Amino acid sequence: MQKELIEKLFLTGNLTDEELKQLIENRTDEDFALLSKTARQRCGEEYGNKVYMRGLIEFSSYCKNDCLYCGLRRSNKNAERYRLSAEEIMNCCENGYKLGFRTFVLQGGEDNYYSDDLFCEIISAIKEKFPDAAVTLSLGERSYDSFKRLFEAGADRYLLRHETADSEHYGKLHPKELSLENRMNCLNQLKEIGYQTGCGFMVGSPFQTADCIVKDLRFIKDFQPQMVGIGPFIPHKDTPFKEEKAGTLELTLFLLSIIRLLLPKVLLPSTTALGTINPTGREQGIKAGANVVMPNLSPVGVRKKYSLYDNKICTGEEAAECLECLRRRVKAAGGELVAHRGDSKIAINNK
Ligand code: 5AD
Ligand code: FES
Repeated sequence: MQKELIEKLFLTGNLTDEELKQLIENRTDEDFALLSKTARQRCGEEYGNKVYMRGLIEFSSYCKNDCLYCGLRRSNKNAERYRLSAEEIMNCCENGYKLGFRTFVLQGGEDNYYSDDLFCEIISAIKEKFPDAAVTLSLGERSYDSFKRLFEAGADRYLLRHETADSEHYGKLHPKELSLENRMNCLNQLKEIGYQTGCGFMVGSPFQTADCIVKDLRFIKDFQPQMVGIGPFIPHKDTPFKEEKAGTLELTLFLLSIIRLLLPKVLLPSTTALGTINPTGREQGIKAGANVVMPNLSPVGVRKKYSLYDNKICTGEEAAECLECLRRRVKAAGGELVAHRGDSKIAINNK
């Protein structure tokens, strides 16, 4: 029966909610072996064995929000806070460009220090200096006008994980001033403006049920994002969820494969969180159908301070400096690390 579901998913790119739930709840190792092989094949049909690399620049650890799972939440008084200047961000890009990166991902907490004007200045400077590179933003929720201005300044892509597509679950992970409705509005606006848009969620976050995951997958299928970021939830010691269990490698890999089959053309990273819960997590992610890696390009001195969860890998060979190590790891997983921009093949509005 499970085998038939996997075949149907492969042939039609879809399953009903009930079928998805069944596939997830009754999964076995044998199912995963078939599912991941199928997902890898589908990924190969779209992208060959290419794995795209993105340089991640974590520019600010200040955050005005208070998400219960996140180590950067404003009420974490133990968090070490830092901000990178425009010049420091440019230095990261220069360093990354020399290493071969052609996508820069600017990610930070929601930090009002960075005005639209400042972001526009930074984005235009990057695009002017490196016209063949893509700029991806991961700045959290902003106004429509702000999203539009940043797009007009040259930003190409925007990552905004929806975190969970179940509003009740959303309420348990976030303070009351944040809502799923606003998150979804932002995602729709990003898409409408013309960004290559990414959504995503944490696997095994507290209170997550199989029904929540089915809603996440349904949302992803309907929204048709160009990118999807998923990784296991990992507790952070200075958050209300410090005693909660981490999400598993096994379920994350299973879901990566399902997402690849639901959206064959999606750009799907094998995330740092996956590499944190297991030393070969990112390689296993690639084998399960992921095709993007995002090594850290932030200045070495601040990497430990960008602490979303405990024990985040950040100074060893997963970081951008050791691209040879990364290339070897990707190769061991059957992939070929490629330098170019690697745009999505999913149609984008306005472009
Ligand atoms: N464990 C795993 N992922 C986390 N994120 C934030 N906190 C954690 C955590 N404790 C993820 C969120 C966010 C992204 C930047 O990092 O999904 O969108
Ligand atoms: Fe910063 Fe959630 S704690 S956006």
